[in-house]
Amino acid sequence: MSDKPLKSYTVWDVPTRVFHWVNFAAIIALLFFGFLILYRKDLSILSGEAKLSLKEVHTWAGYVLIASLTGRLVWGFIGNAHARWRAVLPNKRSLRAVGSDLKSFKAGDPIKYLGRGPMGRLSVSAMFLLLLIQASTGLIRAGTDIYYPPFGWLVTSYVAAPGVDPSTLQPTDKTFVDPERYALMEKYKIPFGDIHLYIAWTLLAMIGLHIASVVLKDIRQGGGIISAMFTGRKVLETPPVDQDEG
Ligand code: HEM
Repeated sequence: MSDKPLKSYTVWDVPTRVFHWVNFAAIIALLFFGFLILYRKDLSILSGEAKLSLKEVHTWAGYVLIASLTGRLVWGFIGNAHARWRAVLPNKRSLRAVGSDLKSFKAGDPIKYLGRGPMGRLSVSAMFLLLLIQASTGLIRAGTDIYYPPFGWLVTSYVAAPGVDPSTLQPTDKTFVDPERYALMEKYKIPFGDIHLYIAWTLLAMIGLHIASVVLKDIRQGGGIISAMFTGRKVLETPPVDQDEG
């Protein structure tokens, strides 16, 4: 045990912590219900109603994620110094410091940052970007698959057979759709589903890596970086290199 005095520093403000945990909970729910949709046949979930219910629950979790993600995006312009985009996105200085950050991490004595280190900036920015693409493709598939907002009305207006009120269409019943238009819509929705699935696997891997790296960092560096996402404070032995930015 080191006998250096410990000092407590404020880092994450309340909205940053709330958005982080709401995003986390929504993503876990989305991964769970998303993979249930993907492997439904292997799990003997065969009825049309059950498939529809899974997609509906998944989409509602998606709306929660989008609301929380939007809140976090806006908070990046008005939150405390560590919540701001200039403390999240990589810049020239942080990119130049990636090598030394990795080296110190491998050596078992990571450089101490109060906010995100150079690697943290890269991984968090990549996750935000992937989540934005995932949310967009998800909204498109929610429109094409279950006629949910914001694009559902556009899809039903396009696929409704002549003389049919689009608002009466049900996603499980193809009786009142124009077959040609419906087939075209089905064709164009495929790439969005493919992107959605590739990103789901990538996010799963990145979230695993994110959790493994914070646990490892907490063990090697101390400072309670995991508990800081609950309490908002880090406890460090030596002043962090980014102390002046906070
Ligand atoms: C972290 C975010 C998300 C993850 C990890 C995720 C994951 C998945 C996965 C694994 C599938 C199954 C893909 C397949 O069967 O080919 C899926 C399907 C779907 N997702 Fe997401 N999703 C996310 C966000 C969203 C959002 C924000 C929405 C909409 C609000 C959404 C709407 C849908 C819909 C409608 C489907 C059914 C499409 C189909 O059957 O192919 N997703 N999602």
